[in-house]
Order: sequence, then C-alpha cells, then structure tokens
Amino acid sequence: MNQQVNEAFEALRAHGSQVKKQHLRILFEQDPQRFQRFSAEACWILMDYSKSRITADTLPLLEKLAKAAGIEARRDAMYAGERINTTENRAVLHTALRNRSNTPVLLDGKDVMPDVNGVLAAIEKFTDAVRNGTRTGSTGKPFTDVVNIGIGGSDLGPRMVVRALSPDARRDLRVHFVANVDPSDMHDVLATLDPSTTLFVIASKTFTTMETMTNGRAARAWVADALGEDAVGAHFVAVSTNAKEVSAFGISTEEMFGFWDWVGGRYSLWSAIGLPIALSVGFAKFAELLDGAHQMDLHFKSAPILQNLPMLLGLLRVWEIDVMGSTTVALLPYDQRLELFTPHLQQVDMESNGKGVMLDGAPVVYGSGPVVWGSPGTNGQHAFHQLIHQGNRVIPCEFLLARHSRTPIGDGHQKLIANCLAQSEALMRGKNEAEVRAELTKQGLSGEALENLVPHKLFTGNRPSITFLYEQLDARTLGSITALYEHAIFVQGTCWNVNSFDQWGVELGKQLALPILDALTGGKTGTHDASRAGLLARIGS
Ligand code: F6P
Repeated sequence: MNQQVNEAFEALRAHGSQVKKQHLRILFEQDPQRFQRFSAEACWILMDYSKSRITADTLPLLEKLAKAAGIEARRDAMYAGERINTTENRAVLHTALRNRSNTPVLLDGKDVMPDVNGVLAAIEKFTDAVRNGTRTGSTGKPFTDVVNIGIGGSDLGPRMVVRALSPDARRDLRVHFVANVDPSDMHDVLATLDPSTTLFVIASKTFTTMETMTNGRAARAWVADALGEDAVGAHFVAVSTNAKEVSAFGISTEEMFGFWDWVGGRYSLWSAIGLPIALSVGFAKFAELLDGAHQMDLHFKSAPILQNLPMLLGLLRVWEIDVMGSTTVALLPYDQRLELFTPHLQQVDMESNGKGVMLDGAPVVYGSGPVVWGSPGTNGQHAFHQLIHQGNRVIPCEFLLARHSRTPIGDGHQKLIANCLAQSEALMRGKNEAEVRAELTKQGLSGEALENLVPHKLFTGNRPSITFLYEQLDARTLGSITALYEHAIFVQGTCWNVNSFDQWGVELGKQLALPILDALTGGKTGTHDASRAGLLARIGS
C-alpha cells in the first residue's frame, strides 16, 4: 500500500476518533444547513448523505484518500480499455456497452464500438421479431413465454431489471428465469408452460457453467420430447462468448448473441445478457436503460470528487468500514419493484470486493467488501429493522426511494415515503431517556412499571444512513442507479487496492463438487474426509 494512502487512512482514523464522540442528532441541531452541505445530485438522483456520521472536516480527508489511491487515474484507465483486471489479463469495459455517445473506445488499438453496435442491432432485430410474432416457434405459433437459463451475472442483472420495469412489460410475453441446478427451479417454471410457445435463452459467458448447462440440456429434452428433435433450433437462442460450445449444444451461431471477455459476468446486463430485458420491455426501453447508465458514466468520469455520486458513495462506505468499524451494509429499496436490486448488488459488491489480497498479492491492509443484504421497505420494518435500531452493531443503511409511484393506488405511496423518511430519522435521532420517561408518564405509567420499561424503549440513535431519491423508477433512472452502484464498488476496491474484477473465490467449491458428483453417480471413488464420507453414507452413495 503506498505511503500516501497509509497517511490518508491514518488522518481519517485520527479524525474518526473525534467524530465518534459526536451524536448525529446534535450535529443536526448545530447545523440547519446540514442537508444542503451534505447532499448532491446527478442524473435525476438526489443523494442525501447528511445522516452519515461525518463533519465538515471529513470530506476533505476522504478526498485526500481518493487522490492518494489514484481513483481518478484508475477510473480513466478502465474507461480507456487498459487491462486493469490483472489476474485475468482483461480490460474492464462494461462502460463501452452503454456508450450511447458512440465515441471510439480503443482496446489494443481497435475500436470496440462497431462490434457493440452490431450486437445491439442484432438484439433489436431479434426482439422485434419475437414481439411482433414473425419469429415463431416450430409450429408457427408466436411465443408467449421466454425462459432465461443462466446463473450469477447471467441471471441476477436481467432478472432484476425485468422485475423493476414490469409496468413496461408486454403482458402477453412473460419472461421467466431459471438459475438453480436444483431441479425444482426448472420443474416449477416448466410446469406452467407450453413447449410450442416457449423460447429459451441459454445465457452463459463461458457456456460451461454446470448449473446452466444442466438446466439447458433439461430444457432441450423437454422441447425435443414434446415437439421433436427438429424443433429445437426454433426454440433456443444463446448468449455467450463461446461460439464453439454453443454450436456443440445445437444452437446455430446465427442465433447466438455475442459479447466479449472484457465484460465481467456481474457487469453484463448491459450486453447481450440483457436480451430478456429487451424481449420483455422492448428494445427502445432497453436503450433507455443503457442511456441512463451512460449518463452516470459521464458523470463519474467528469464530476469533481466531492460532487461525484459514485465517488461519494464509495468513499462514505470506506469511511464507515475502515474508520467507524462497520462490516455490513443494508441496502433497503423503498420500492417493491426493486426487490431484486439488493440480490443483484450483493453479487456485484461481494464478488467484486470480497478479497483477501491486494493487487500485488499481499494481504489486504484496509477494508475489503462489506456484507451486503436487505430487502424492500416497508416489509423489512416488520422483520429485521429491530436489530438495525436497537441491536448492538451499527449497520449503515442505504435507502432508495421514488418521488412518484408509476402505478399509484390510493395513498400507498405517501405512506411508503413517510415510512422511509421516518426510518432514517429514527436511526439518526434515536430516543433518549428523558423522551422515553416523558412518553411513558404520558401513558400513565409510574414507579417500578415505568423504571422496568425505560431501558427497553431506548434508541441510541446516531446510526448512519444515505437516502437516494429519484423521480420514478423508469428505465433511464434504473440504468443510472445501477451504474452508480457499480462505480461506487469500484471506488471502494481502488481504495483497498484489490482487483474488483476477478472472482477466484468461487472456484474451489466448483472443483470440489466434481469428485463428490463422481461418488454420487457411482464413478471413481476418491478419498473423502470424515464429514464428507459421513454425509455421503447417509445420502446413500
Ligand atoms: O459464480 C461465478 C461466475 O463466474 C460469475 O461471476 C458469473 O456471473 C457466473 O459464474 C456465471 O458464469 P457464466 O455466465 O459463464 O455461466
């Protein structure tokens, strides 16, 4: 870790020991301008970070860290197609996929934009044909259902967007997702479908992933059994970087939508992996999603550090994790259609920054990614918010909230807003002993009964949160918010000097599954540790 970064962290920690002595409620009382001071706006998104545990002195120190860590230079290297994913020797160019300005993006001296635009044109042509009924199944009937078979980045991103943009979806073309190798996932989706009107998208960057290939073969057999082997071609398309394996599966490379090794799986919803999105909401809305992300890319590229939303979010996360001692972040959309946003971001964040070593292989000195979790409000309020309010860990919360519902019913949306704002206020302010006593007295309690209840009714407060407020959840806004989070994760990874674009940690489990599968299917019997042997004996291999 370079000396300037160490110094920046030391300065932050020294400052942090002072900030820890202050209470957010007091900071708000002292500064009526706190919201104006600690909020920023870009791409139709307002970021209120005034409820972070910071003072006016914190931001310049975070800016110093950003400079010392070279975030701007590394960001520019990413946009410029340098191979910043060093352990896989790959460029990281998901920003090129949504480069709606169409400016040249050079990789090893060659502009990637003609290839990107070519695939987008193919997606548009194909999705239009499916949606207008000219591309049909083998019996000539238009498709009524699409099943995306993929896992991880080939599932979570498009699944999240299709759910979020459901008001834009065609009701007569339903999109389903199968990811788990657990056959119940495939079974329960197929149980509702007619093979003659079902289109399968096999989505896999490598086209070798065990879950996806197993499910893909099961779907293929289902179609072949019902409609004959010759029907398979009409009911399957592929999204992949591996033309050879796609052909071997029996899908014509004419109907393979390609992408490239410089698209990380968890950053791939902007590529042809977004095909189910375009099928569901139409190519024009998919293009709006890309445009929203592009606007955020432009903002991330050009805005000064302390007015830059991804920079601010990333740096405030680093502050919470490295200085204030948090280990988790609750991502709480007050937006039911963002119910899959947290699972998607969980992969992007935890696969990107869940690292134990830095770029040079030495153990990490600072941070490394938080545990990201959460679910939509207000449901979470009746489930796990108890621990966030009164548990003995401080859990920074990130709230996402639309000003307007796209599909209002009665006063539900106002109640949603009221609850969201109340949650962050309760976390910030808490309820002190005097307030609890006054409240209980007003309720007619006194003496022992009152004394016994007081400690249970206390809220320490001083619990940080950030609120993102947007106009409404449309394709453009969703693109911007998702890109904001992607970049904020990159900012954190750069402060910690980890490679946010590899994922070697998923390999060991995959390797170990193979001899176990062998043992289960009566193949080679290898040596098993006592636990594996005991469990296999009970399972009955
Ligand atoms: O789980 C690891 C991983 O490589 C993810 O990063 C990726 O999104 C997922 O598997 C799926 O991979 P593929 O698209 O190659 O099937």
